[in-house]
Amino acid sequence: MADMPQSPDTLAPNGRVIMISGATGGIGAAFATRLHGDGFRVSLGARDVDRARHQFADFDPERVFVHRFEATDAETAGAWVDATAERFGRIDGLINNAGVLRQISMTEGDETVLDDLWAINVKAPYRLTRLALPHLKAGGNGRVINVASTDGKRYRDGVSVGYAMTKHAVLALTHATKFAAWEEGVRVTALCPGAVDTEMIANIPGVTPKAQRLRPETLGEIVALLLRLPNNALVAEMVVNTRLESGF
Ligand SMILES: NC(=O)c1ccc[n+]([C@@H]2O[C@H](COP(=O)([O-])OP(=O)(O)OC[C@H]3O[C@@H](n4cnc5c(N)ncnc54)[C@H](OP(=O)(O)O)[C@@H]3O)[C@@H](O)[C@H]2O)c1
Repeated sequence: MADMPQSPDTLAPNGRVIMISGATGGIGAAFATRLHGDGFRVSLGARDVDRARHQFADFDPERVFVHRFEATDAETAGAWVDATAERFGRIDGLINNAGVLRQISMTEGDETVLDDLWAINVKAPYRLTRLALPHLKAGGNGRVINVASTDGKRYRDGVSVGYAMTKHAVLALTHATKFAAWEEGVRVTALCPGAVDTEMIANIPGVTPKAQRLRPETLGEIVALLLRLPNNALVAEMVVNTRLESGF
């Protein structure tokens, strides 16, 4: 089959460096595999570095870097950004993917659950974005992709109110980041998937049935597209629903 014609201003992967947090998880690993396969250089943030090195052992050693990233430990964010810049000499993209889903409702659950959700799902992406922005601005085509959720777009009864609040906050962070670095060519997307078939939702009662969940690889396809788009094709929000709802 002949190659499909591409838009002349499509951004090629070659040489570009993309940081991915939570790279050992279901969605993060799919991003790492897809982007490495497409020719990007990937910097993988993981809590368990040995596990990550083993998990991605077949990647081209010239195009992969693994560094410890613990969302609740601010020092690891700075160390990861600095080490990535030192290893590759540039940073072209940041995918804030690491996240947790913990249950807390309007009547049940301890407030410490809110603190954990806030620290991991909101403060850590904010911190990483601030740290990476100087590097992203320098290249002229920086990209930030924040993995939010359809739970960041509306409230659906039964979902953890704490999780929904943090994912709404990720939308606000996305739009604020868009304003912070527009002139320097940084473009920012909130990726808002419905149920994805990963460990995160494996044991949650009432969740979308397995057969209807998104595959992590489908989101890899979407991220690969977002990273190819030129600066005049901003997709600020990308909602990927598995179910029929009005609005998106
Ligand atoms: N699955 C879904 O249905 C769904 C839908 C919409 C959005 N999302 C979002 O997609 C993202 C990825 O989730 P997933 O489905 O791939 O879940 P997952 O398989 O549970 O992966 C979560 C990732 O986040 C990392 N992580 C958790 N706590 C962390 C911390 N304190 N510091 C650093 N990393 C931490 C995990 O690290 P370890 O590997 O070390 O545990 C793992 O790599 C999350 O932001 C989630 O909210 C998921």
